[in-house]
Amino acid sequence: MKRFTRSGVWALVLALLLIASACGGNTSGNSSSKNDGGKSTPASASEKKDGKIKIGFSMDTLQEERWQKDRDLFKAAAEALGATVEVQAANSDDAKQIAQAENLISQGVDVLVVVPHNSEATAAIVEKAHEAGIKVVAYDRLILNSDLDLYISFDNERVGEMQAEAITKLQPKGKYVYIGGADTDNNAILFKKGAFNILQPFVDKGDIEIVYDQFTKDWNPANALANMENALTANNNQIDAVVAANDGTAGGVIQALASQGLDGKIPVSGQDAELAAAQRIVEGTQSMTVYKPIKTLAERAAELAVQLGKGEAISTNKTVNNGKIEVPSVLLDPVAVDQSNIDDTVIADGFHTKEDVYKNVK
Ligand code: GAL
Repeated sequence: MKRFTRSGVWALVLALLLIASACGGNTSGNSSSKNDGGKSTPASASEKKDGKIKIGFSMDTLQEERWQKDRDLFKAAAEALGATVEVQAANSDDAKQIAQAENLISQGVDVLVVVPHNSEATAAIVEKAHEAGIKVVAYDRLILNSDLDLYISFDNERVGEMQAEAITKLQPKGKYVYIGGADTDNNAILFKKGAFNILQPFVDKGDIEIVYDQFTKDWNPANALANMENALTANNNQIDAVVAANDGTAGGVIQALASQGLDGKIPVSGQDAELAAAQRIVEGTQSMTVYKPIKTLAERAAELAVQLGKGEAISTNKTVNNGKIEVPSVLLDPVAVDQSNIDDTVIADGFHTKEDVYKNVK
């Protein structure tokens, strides 16, 4: 066999690198080395200097307590699998999120995990990542109209059903207010769909009247407070129940109710099992929340992201149509929580301590 001279070897390596950079355009080795029917497989970790999978985690916001937990739990789980994680939060700014994702792509991450602020606009991120041979995971919120590689979340329609089931059990008749999430977030659409799966039959029977129904820009509690104040004013405080999409918006709603001396008198739903909400539940001003075990979500997402980063095949138990394709998906089960089971769920899981939750209860 013809042996290569030293200069010959160097020429070959140079050629490979040139080919690699011509294919991928970035120097981190995360360039497509093989083509399989148009989808390019990123260079595996073993071909990288440190052999570590590098994950880019592009987050919409850290506004809610849960996202700080997601960030920390995902990072810890991925690092335990030998990966590194670069986190970027966009403070609900679409242009910033896309620019941050482009930055992560140009840094040569092996896989991109995205919590989209805007489920439509972030389709551009999937396209750019695929051009660089990088797979994309939609974390908790779906990215629409794109060739997404994986969607992992909770059954969000079921979340909405649980909220309305709890409130209609407490208040089967009367005037209802629906305080939704951000309509840029596909989850908010699913929560509302689930809630109205339960509410509509009551409306059709004439038992319940929806007197106010608004999404909340950026899930901002201050916007929910303003919406609830409008609802109270428009209905002379004659409101019997509120289905609020998460604990942040529920906090705004209950603040508005308190200023009219109505807090604790009108049932209010929530989601996320935030500490403040858990306290309101045991104090009686909030009726329920939907607990979503973030640890399970973060650990499962880290496992699958590392597999995708290594170019390995992943197994999922569902697909979800995002308007373009049937996305391979993992949907976890949410848990409805109220005073009767908060100790056996949120506290038993160590999501919050008993001391913290019952802090204001004599
Ligand atoms: C949703 C998420 C909820 C809630 C909300 C506000 O997409 O599923 O848990 O926190 O965003 O950030």
